[in-house]
Amino acid sequence: MKTIKDIDIKNKNILVRVDYNVPIKKGEITDDLRIRASLPTINYLLENGANKIILISHLGRPDGKENPEFSLKPVAESLAKLLGQKVGFYPLSNNLASDEKIILLENLRFHPGEEENSQDFIKNIIDATSADLFVQDGFAVVHRAHASTDAVKNFLPVYAGLLLEKEIESLAKAIKNPEKPLLLILGGSKVQDKEPLINAFLETADQIIVGGKIAADGYQSNSAKIYVAEDFDEDINGAKLDIGPLSTAKIAEHIANAKTIIWNGLLGYAEDPAYATSSIITAEILGDTPDKTTIICGGDTTGFVENLAKTHKNLAYSLISTGGGAALEFLTGNKLPGIEAIED
Ligand code: 3PG
Repeated sequence: MKTIKDIDIKNKNILVRVDYNVPIKKGEITDDLRIRASLPTINYLLENGANKIILISHLGRPDGKENPEFSLKPVAESLAKLLGQKVGFYPLSNNLASDEKIILLENLRFHPGEEENSQDFIKNIIDATSADLFVQDGFAVVHRAHASTDAVKNFLPVYAGLLLEKEIESLAKAIKNPEKPLLLILGGSKVQDKEPLINAFLETADQIIVGGKIAADGYQSNSAKIYVAEDFDEDINGAKLDIGPLSTAKIAEHIANAKTIIWNGLLGYAEDPAYATSSIITAEILGDTPDKTTIICGGDTTGFVENLAKTHKNLAYSLISTGGGAALEFLTGNKLPGIEAIED
């Protein structure tokens, strides 16, 4: 896969697909992981003499219609603060002969062409921005065959950005050549989301642990490799809202024996601090194991770990993946259109 390190960037106008689909509540970004994760590529392009960097992204699912609720404006402001530099913010339809070195265009999904994988839609953006090169750095969206992940390859050479490269390298190593023993810890609520992952890892993982609502709902397996949480913390109505101390101790024991650990999905109803205990303990143990490869993926889990790290300053992980669905699909072994589009 060719990356921005393989090409000459000097004086080029570079169209960069990022994934700034971040949670925004009352105009405030509540988790800026995806914005911070895009900085290394932007800085690399600046340092290597790019003429203009045009960032494009989606936010939410506005269904092809303009909707101020899904505007990327707060992201442009946050990005400017993080970069310490002006970021121009323009509608998709604008003539883009702007002065700023870095610009962010409004939400791609305000136009139906994005999700329809329309060639005309992406060609109009390329023409309006006089883009010479396309950089795919939106790892979290490469599982979608959209205009900015797929159709774009028909008009410009596509290169991987540094975030995409880092995510793929870490996740690919965990699938193909992990340092063993390999432990997969799964939580979350939807068994149908996790079963493909369990099946994909049954052969390569040494141990799989299932917690969260899936375990509370009675997930069963005949495989000796799979441990399903066996005790639970319950509310007064008997609802199982967190895995209990026995199961949490089992997780700690398996982490101690493993060399590579992938964690996807919260182990209890961690939005309520009363039922976050097992997830906190797991995050703390994983964040304090510099000798192991620790990969955190899935939006809820990465958000939880990031939040915890605000008060627990010493927690560090090998990879906090920005990809929710994309990371799961990649780990499951599926081909992802946004990665297929990148030059070999
Ligand atoms: C995500 O948050 O998983 C990506 O940004 C993709 O968003 P989507 O599920 O709306 O396509």
